[in-house]
Amino acid sequence: MPTVAKTKCDIALFGAQGDLALRKLFPALYQLDKANLLAPQLRVLGLARSPIDQENFLETVRIHLCKFIAANEIDEIALARFLARLFYIEIDFTDGNAYHTLHDKLCETNNPLVCYFATPAAIYGEICQNLSNAGCIDNHTRIVLEKPIGYDLASSKKINDAVAQHFAEEQIYRIDHYLGKETVQNLIALRFANSLFGSQWDHNHIDHIEITVAETIGIEHRWGYFDRAGQLRDMVQNHLLQLLCLIAMDPPNDLSADSIRDEKVKVLKALKPIDTHSLNHDVIRGQYCAGSVQGQLAPGYLEEPEGKDSQSCTETFVAIKAQICNWRWANVPFYLRTGKRMTEKLSQIIIHFKRPPHYIFAPEQRDIAENKLIIRLQPDEGISLQVLTKDQGLEKGMRLKPGPLKLNFSDTFHTQRIPDAYERLFLEVIQGSQYLFVRRDEIEYAWVWCDQIINGWQSQNTRPQKYPAGSWGPVSSIAMITRDGKSWHEDSA
Ligand code: BG6
Repeated sequence: MPTVAKTKCDIALFGAQGDLALRKLFPALYQLDKANLLAPQLRVLGLARSPIDQENFLETVRIHLCKFIAANEIDEIALARFLARLFYIEIDFTDGNAYHTLHDKLCETNNPLVCYFATPAAIYGEICQNLSNAGCIDNHTRIVLEKPIGYDLASSKKINDAVAQHFAEEQIYRIDHYLGKETVQNLIALRFANSLFGSQWDHNHIDHIEITVAETIGIEHRWGYFDRAGQLRDMVQNHLLQLLCLIAMDPPNDLSADSIRDEKVKVLKALKPIDTHSLNHDVIRGQYCAGSVQGQLAPGYLEEPEGKDSQSCTETFVAIKAQICNWRWANVPFYLRTGKRMTEKLSQIIIHFKRPPHYIFAPEQRDIAENKLIIRLQPDEGISLQVLTKDQGLEKGMRLKPGPLKLNFSDTFHTQRIPDAYERLFLEVIQGSQYLFVRRDEIEYAWVWCDQIINGWQSQNTRPQKYPAGSWGPVSSIAMITRDGKSWHEDSA
């Protein structure tokens, strides 16, 4: 039985014909409907410029649901119920006069309104202004903003200022879909529900931390966006820094949105600035060249079919050694790494614990692996703790052997499917809970840190280092960590 309250509302989806809406948002809403988590009165208003009628819109959504949802999860009754909630409104978002159709539609029910902007962030302000002029919004309206919010600190502030003219911070839900992932939420449970870890979570016990978000895909059909953004803006400024915050933050006073966000902001403010020396030693920028990913030939970034600039310096890979300048994390490096067209799709956080202070086992075994806590976000969501035990067998004496204590979420909890991040995030917005969304100051402090790297790259005017598609990134990213006597954990088993 569902344990969440079903709240009625109208969800106005701006950009309803776009890739994100068709690939992620409609499937997420369908899954919620199928799970009986949507109020019967909830409506989804799809807004886009395309001159299509209601029938064509429903057909487009239906086709994409069938494409992006496993066949055995399509239930014809749930599908029909879901499609009956959808209404298409053709609208040019920048034309203030066009909003009266939306206004009329909203007046039919007077349901509380949730506006989801799956559009370029540059027009968020204009949409807000038009919604306000047309009388579509009030103090109860919520708006959901997709990332990236801005291109740097200045542009991000401009967008946030424009939105803030019409909405209070409590009405704004800034998405970072990583916060909706099941295992990411589990980080909070793991850290703050288990005193076992709480007492070990600092520089006294932890040697270093790795965060890897590797993808096998390239830039798909997103050259226009990606070539201007690059991997640092696309992944580090948001997803990786959010993961870092959840791993590094102090215990919040409670689970309220602001208690959690206050702690995350403290981490972002404590990030050691990236000066020229750190830029040259602790930041690696890569770009894939032709190679083979999981047996399939892949072109280099500069040869991508949609590519428009064969000299592009846009990075598709970044590795950073970050430091958090506070008491808890003094001298504990955080190695962050993310890239497109890597060996495998793998997102994981590895906590490497320190070795015991006094070593009593055979000297030749001194280098055997230390305790590691491996938090796997995808695939095979779960947690595993590598412990050292005595090897089995009379002849082995007191030989040590590393072995895992494993918690695989699907197997342990007999989960049939792990919900997609957007399902969780939609539910939270509908219920008015902001704890999985990003506050304005978080976004801005993250830009402050990333802007130093971007500006440094620009002033040095160097090219990214090449790595073959299907590899783990440029060799210099391996050199960066081995220089410190450590290595990336690449064992996905
Ligand atoms: C998005 C980025 O935010 O996250 C994409 O814009 C990236 O470039 C995607 O591919 C990765 O998300 P996930 O959930 O597949 O790890």
